[in-house]
Amino acid sequence: MRNLLVTGGAGFIGSHLVRLLVNKYPEYNIYNLDLLTYAGNLENLIDVENSSNYHFIKGDITDEAQMMSLFREKQFDAVLHLAAESHVDRSILDPMAFLKTNILGTVSLLNAAKSFWKENFEGKLFYHISTDEVFGSLGEEGFFVETTSYDPKSPYSASKASSDHFVRAYSNTYGLPVIITNCSNNYGPNQFPEKLIPLCINNIKNKKPLPVYGTGENIRDWLYVIDHAAAIDKVFHKGKIGGTYNIGGFNEWKNIDLVRTLCDVMDRYHGKEVGTSQELITFVTDRAGHDMRYAIDASKMSNELGWQPSLQFEEGIEKTVAWYMENQVWLDNITSGDYQHYYQNQYNR
Ligand code: NAD
Ligand code: DAU
Repeated sequence: MRNLLVTGGAGFIGSHLVRLLVNKYPEYNIYNLDLLTYAGNLENLIDVENSSNYHFIKGDITDEAQMMSLFREKQFDAVLHLAAESHVDRSILDPMAFLKTNILGTVSLLNAAKSFWKENFEGKLFYHISTDEVFGSLGEEGFFVETTSYDPKSPYSASKASSDHFVRAYSNTYGLPVIITNCSNNYGPNQFPEKLIPLCINNIKNKKPLPVYGTGENIRDWLYVIDHAAAIDKVFHKGKIGGTYNIGGFNEWKNIDLVRTLCDVMDRYHGKEVGTSQELITFVTDRAGHDMRYAIDASKMSNELGWQPSLQFEEGIEKTVAWYMENQVWLDNITSGDYQHYYQNQYNR
């Protein structure tokens, strides 16, 4: 039996990872530690909440005393650390929240792991889930590889880059066994509708404008969230201690092309004439410091670990639209309350 701590397991990626681990590894105890911020939602895990190897703990990674006592009590063998503030636009509004959760929270977990594993690091692992945004922004050519220099440009990416540096520092200084992965943009079921794809799905559904920042020329590399969870599983079991792996979809899209495609998929889903929803597209003021292009070279993942994305984007986006349309209660619940305040503040409407 292994005791695994997954932080941020009630969030978007975390919930898909928890589901995979609970179902695939009945011999592991999966502890999902989450503060249940606006982004955390236990409804995401209803299908596994009664599994005997699943345990939820409401907790705050920035509370070091709580982390220490949890490590003592539950005897964790490994940490898969996803808890974070994850939305770039919110980091522009409130950088300090990102510093606190993403940097202090990570260091508090590192301290707990170091203290409780220090007698014997054998078989232990601190796996830190990070982002490609730490590498900054690409021009028209080239890809982020594992050795690309860090050049974060938003408060969010600066906080994630800092947390990556702390993880490496604990490995170098104290010998803590660590792995870091840096992944590109995820999409799929259960993503909070402040991010581009679910925000547009929700707005098309409600016939609201689709806010495209700037000219819509910015490029992102999209990966289906279940493929990310599968990649994390591979790295967790087969990755080299001390290693870094880039995870991506080999799937670059200009925002404007992606939004148009999404409109067409929604039109087809609802039996409308294709092109109808594109009329909702509205160009709005650009994001401050908006990174131009992200693109991951994930060949180390495929060469060393045999991982590749399983879904073509067209299939992934159709599955995503279908999920949101079939889970309107989830969408309506999550877009009430705080979301309305955020939306008005961010988009002035
Ligand atoms: P998310 O915002 O959907 O979920 C974050 C989760 O962390 C939520 O459940 C929230 O309640 C929890 N949380 C926040 N503060 C906490 C605290 N102090 N203590 C405990 N729990 C707390 O995020 P996501 O999109 O699922 O991203 C998960 C991780 O993956 C993040 O570290 C993010 O940086 C990274 N990542 C995300 C993407 C992406 O496209 N979404 C891509 C690459 C990497
Ligand atoms: O690259 C990985 C990162 O991807 C993760 O680390 C982050 O946690 C995740 O949020 C995501 O960051 P992005 O900023 O790339 O994702 P977002 O969905 O916010 O935006 C995608 C692109 O769409 C980006 O170029 C900004 C643009 N955009 C976004 C929103 C919310 C718009 O044009 N309009 C919008 O309303």
